[in-house]
Amino acid sequence: MSKKRAGFATRMGAIAATVGSAVGLGNIWRFPYEAGQNGGGAFIIVYIACVALLGIPVMLSEFIIGRSTHSNMKGALRQLVPKSKVYLMAYVCILGALLVVSFYSVVCGWVIEYLVQAASGNLTGHTPQEYTTIFNNFIGSPSRTVLWTLLFLAINFAVLMRGVQKGIERISAIMMPLLFVILIVFCINSLFLPDAHKGLAFMFSPDFSQLTWRGVVDAFGQAFMSLSLGVSCLITYASYYKDDTSLTKDAVVIAALDSLVAFLAGIVIFPAVFSFGMQPEAGPKLVFEILPSVFEQMAGGYIWAVLFFVLLFFASLTSTISISEILIMFMMEERGMTRQRATWVTALVTVVLAVLCALSFNVLSSLKVCGMNLFDLFNYLSSNVFMLLGGLFTAVFVGWFLDRRIITEQLTNKGRLNVPVMNYLMFCLRYVAPVAVVFIFLQLVGII
Ligand code: ALA
Repeated sequence: MSKKRAGFATRMGAIAATVGSAVGLGNIWRFPYEAGQNGGGAFIIVYIACVALLGIPVMLSEFIIGRSTHSNMKGALRQLVPKSKVYLMAYVCILGALLVVSFYSVVCGWVIEYLVQAASGNLTGHTPQEYTTIFNNFIGSPSRTVLWTLLFLAINFAVLMRGVQKGIERISAIMMPLLFVILIVFCINSLFLPDAHKGLAFMFSPDFSQLTWRGVVDAFGQAFMSLSLGVSCLITYASYYKDDTSLTKDAVVIAALDSLVAFLAGIVIFPAVFSFGMQPEAGPKLVFEILPSVFEQMAGGYIWAVLFFVLLFFASLTSTISISEILIMFMMEERGMTRQRATWVTALVTVVLAVLCALSFNVLSSLKVCGMNLFDLFNYLSSNVFMLLGGLFTAVFVGWFLDRRIITEQLTNKGRLNVPVMNYLMFCLRYVAPVAVVFIFLQLVGII
């Protein structure tokens, strides 16, 4: 089982790859529409509280498990608690990962479509309302949505065939800073739009009467999705970390950068929404109907649009790579497959599920489960069920059951680092996480 494993060449490489996993469509596409549907400011406050009280502690739990065992989740749990069945939880995380990659690749396909349209000069000359129709027509087309989804998955799995370091590190280290810079430019542009203040008020003046309990769980799910928690992704990445990486520092930096990117995306989108007379609660299509109008009124809009979609494509790719890697590594280490074989198997299963999701906006649109089409169902189950429960399980496991010496050893790098947040961390893991589990469960079964 313990073959020689790859590792990140440098500490910066490891952080860049983990930020690459975290930053993606979750921040730029999902955060604005979730905030838009749940009243804006109040949602954002719950989101920030969730990152601080649960997100960073869960991330640290995953880091501790991954680096102390240098294994995938199942192998890690078997090492840490040899005679128990606790390792079965890994299957829940694997299933969560599969659902995420499946619906997420469909949105990555939308990004490719918009990149092609932007490059062909077609994302111009329309009213904001016409851009909504253009988007609806696009997702209504089975051939186009399926084609782009398949193209995206082909690229994703081709990178994965090449192994961890070469593929992931190189892409992440170049693209992430560029995306950050371009978002700042877009923010400045949005802040000068007419009625921009209405968008800022929507984001920063919380109105808790707009937030339901479901909205609170959505904020939790969004935080976990955005940080790639609960699907054992960060266990897998941390299994590649070097012994001198400061887990606490990295977790705080990664969570801060990830949240910053989401807020920047909000500052780009919401002023534009109000300025163009659109609705913030438009749902998953929000970003795709707003951005073309944003580009249109920027000097050099053509270049900005192409550049943005190229970077968004890479940001999404680094996220899907990290989540697909969980599935691949699981099959390599637990089923003894070669990387190539494991990649093929993962690719085939993902393709089937992703195509079903792509078709759920057109030929399968009448297929509903609990009132949701397959895309919405996978999206909802991924964040609000699998990621939340997988992440919180990890937190409770580390807080209550893992040998305290392992936690201390990992956080202090065998006594070399001082970790002043130990009590805070243990409080969150032992008390906040279980309360959150109960709350989510009650919301899920409809008691709250
Ligand atoms: N963490 C990834 C994202 O937010 C899944 O895009």
